[in-house]
Amino acid sequence: METVDGTTETVIEESTIYTREEFRTIDVGAIMRDGHPDITDGDLLIVERVAARRAELGRPLTVMDVGSGSGVLAGMIADRLPDCRVIANDVARNPLEQARDRLADKPGAEVYGSPFEQWQEPLDVMISWGSHHHLPHNHLTHARQLLGEHGLLILGDEFCPEYCTPEDAVRLKSAEVIELGGGYLLASDEEIAAYRKDGSVPEWSRELETRRRKTLWNWYKFVIDYAIERDNWMVAIAEMQITKDDVVTSFEEEHKLSPLIVEHELAVNGFQQRAKHVIGDREPALQSFFVYEFTVAAAEGPVAGQGRQ
Ligand SMILES: C[S@@+](CC[C@H](N)C(=O)[O-])C[C@H]1O[C@@H](n2cnc3c(N)ncnc32)[C@H](O)[C@@H]1O
Repeated sequence: METVDGTTETVIEESTIYTREEFRTIDVGAIMRDGHPDITDGDLLIVERVAARRAELGRPLTVMDVGSGSGVLAGMIADRLPDCRVIANDVARNPLEQARDRLADKPGAEVYGSPFEQWQEPLDVMISWGSHHHLPHNHLTHARQLLGEHGLLILGDEFCPEYCTPEDAVRLKSAEVIELGGGYLLASDEEIAAYRKDGSVPEWSRELETRRRKTLWNWYKFVIDYAIERDNWMVAIAEMQITKDDVVTSFEEEHKLSPLIVEHELAVNGFQQRAKHVIGDREPALQSFFVYEFTVAAAEGPVAGQGRQ
């Protein structure tokens, strides 16, 4: 997600639960698979989608899991597709060490421990699983370059359950850009200029943010109850911290947006949606996990938003 003040490019070291001292000895990726809804189902779905791509192209693939955490998903893909090169990529010290251990005995798997933006080799499949809303603003431009016209982006995330109305959808459709300013959604160059000038934010963006926070609160209560029912207090405590991070509007390192907004973000960054999968057979207010497949859109003149990245 691009922000208008350019503050999100720094790596998130020491700012989220993945790097906090109290979680140093904990494999957060592993405990989340036990005490958090939908993550394991998402793992299984993504492994199947990568296998389908392997079958579709009929050759071994280079697959990178960006923001892989401790490498649970990368390990599953390496086991399922032993002829593929599977790269687990993260930047935080603890998950990186855990990923190195987890992948050590898998010949096709490796770990890349620098920011994704520094990786330069082409990719057949890029996965971001739970990572999109943590990655720096320019990562989609970089992803587009690495994937080229035949690459596939599998973007799965814990979104804020949908809070956009049909009227919001109409407004988003004409968005020139999708950016955050102090945590508020800005959708045109004019709105960005006004925010930069004096911090002003459109009334629409404030209303969206109010709905986002309330929708998140409902979702996180469900997630924390789910963990406590399973006696998984580590996940419950982690999620309480994540809840606080997320409902603080200006804390953009943890800022879940609605699926519709992210779909438009991908569109203005030159990606074409190929598939959308929802995880969790529940009412929409409790549907947070979506897995998308995107390809790079055929160039038809300049991509909106490209010049500013
Ligand atoms: C929510 S976690 C992802 C969980 C993980 N995908 C899993 O399946 O367990 C987000 C991860 O993104 C990583 N991250 C943040 N910025 C990054 C960057 N620029 N390049 C690579 N990874 C990054 C963080 O260190 C963190 O481990």
